[in-house]
Amino acid sequence: MIRVGIIGVGTVGSSVVRVLEKNKDIITARAGKEICVVKGVVRSLDKKRDIDIPLTTDPYEVTDDPNIDIVVELMGGVEEAYEVVRRALQNKKAVVTANKALLAYHRYELQELAGDIPFEFEASVAGGIPIIKALREGLSANHIEAIRGIMNGTCNYILSKMAREGAAFAEVLQEAQRLGYAEADPTFDIEGFDAAHKLLILASIAYGINAKPEDILIEGITKITKLDFEFAKEFGYAIKLLSIAKKRGDQVELRVHPTLVLQSEMIAKVDGVMNGISVIGDVVGETMYYGPGAGGEATASAVISNIIDIARGGKCSPMLGFKKPLEWGMRLAPKEAINSKYYLRILVEDRPGILAKIASIFGEHSISIESMLQKSSAQGQAQLLLSTHRCVEKDIQKALKELQSREFLKEPPVMIRIED
Ligand code: NAP
Ligand code: HSE
Repeated sequence: MIRVGIIGVGTVGSSVVRVLEKNKDIITARAGKEICVVKGVVRSLDKKRDIDIPLTTDPYEVTDDPNIDIVVELMGGVEEAYEVVRRALQNKKAVVTANKALLAYHRYELQELAGDIPFEFEASVAGGIPIIKALREGLSANHIEAIRGIMNGTCNYILSKMAREGAAFAEVLQEAQRLGYAEADPTFDIEGFDAAHKLLILASIAYGINAKPEDILIEGITKITKLDFEFAKEFGYAIKLLSIAKKRGDQVELRVHPTLVLQSEMIAKVDGVMNGISVIGDVVGETMYYGPGAGGEATASAVISNIIDIARGGKCSPMLGFKKPLEWGMRLAPKEAINSKYYLRILVEDRPGILAKIASIFGEHSISIESMLQKSSAQGQAQLLLSTHRCVEKDIQKALKELQSREFLKEPPVMIRIED
């Protein structure tokens, strides 16, 4: 028998307990032994719960229990979770976690601490999709050229509902929270941090890059409005929050931002809480992964797969998939060097000469306009919706800064990058 302690029995932890019970027959057969949850850790013992396991409020009762074989960390957060997982590894216990925030900051220290002790984290990226296994094991013969993915179920749920039903942002976010998709603090979802944490984990496995969230470009979805969806539709695009890694020589661009993608692309059709990730390897070509990216059951599916792996005696060491560093190394590309097409929404005074002034600012920064739409509003104001040809991030940022200093601008411009 394998004895498991679960630290954090909320949305995901309680689903793990239920699925282990519901699918006991197949899980026992596949693992070769019975898997039994012997203890759970919660913050409050007074909350009503629909699971029946012994509970405590002290995580160290699990990490230090000599009868527990596997510690499953599902409490969330960074520093406290790090201390708890560290203690479990010091006590030579196998660890399974779904905590991408923890890994975004401490994955290399944890790899070092784990050594040959199994440490698995399939559920940390894209919920129920086995993308860690695919990248670390299935594609290990490839140089990874690019990763492009929808990796946050909450944002995709919100954007899909806004595009399809014209739903209001705040309402759909509440729905996503009710369905158990969102993080304890949903700012992590809507400001792009959660998608960035996941991208950083994949970037370590694909390129051996040890970057932190602060090092990369991260933008969320909170500034997107109905008007942006109208423009997108008119020009054949969908708006998605993409996590992007692109290899350019020995550098890798890592970025997370709302993106206009052509409606004909597969990734544009990934709807609702679903995630979709395209990985391009130099040998295999493009591979695509699709499935539920959040929610208790989908995530429990990935967590339990790791528990079964460990019960079978399998382990992947080291956890991030590199036995030794790449001889020539890969470096993080500077944010300012990003090369993209851009969509801009600019609210200005509706009077003669303004358009010429805007065109001249873009011209001075070597930015060429590809298309434009003007929507006039009642108070003598006009919304300009325009897209640019490919240019460099540094130039667009300078042009936007200059635009913001002009008196004819009525609110800060909104910019969305275009991938096509
Ligand atoms: P959740 O519903 O908020 O559950 C967190 C659990 O941890 C709760 O049982 C909470 O106790 C307990 N807890 C938190 N801090 C604690 C502390 N200091 N001491 C003791 N217990 C503590 O969160 P969740 O959605 O299940 O997510 C858990 C982890 O999985 C997070 O790292 C998250 O990022 C990750 N994840 C979530 C999903 C998803 O779809 N929800 C998907 C993939 C990965 P109480 O019950 O008493 O509050
Ligand atoms: N809050 C995350 C999401 C959970 O919405 O994708 C899955 O990691």
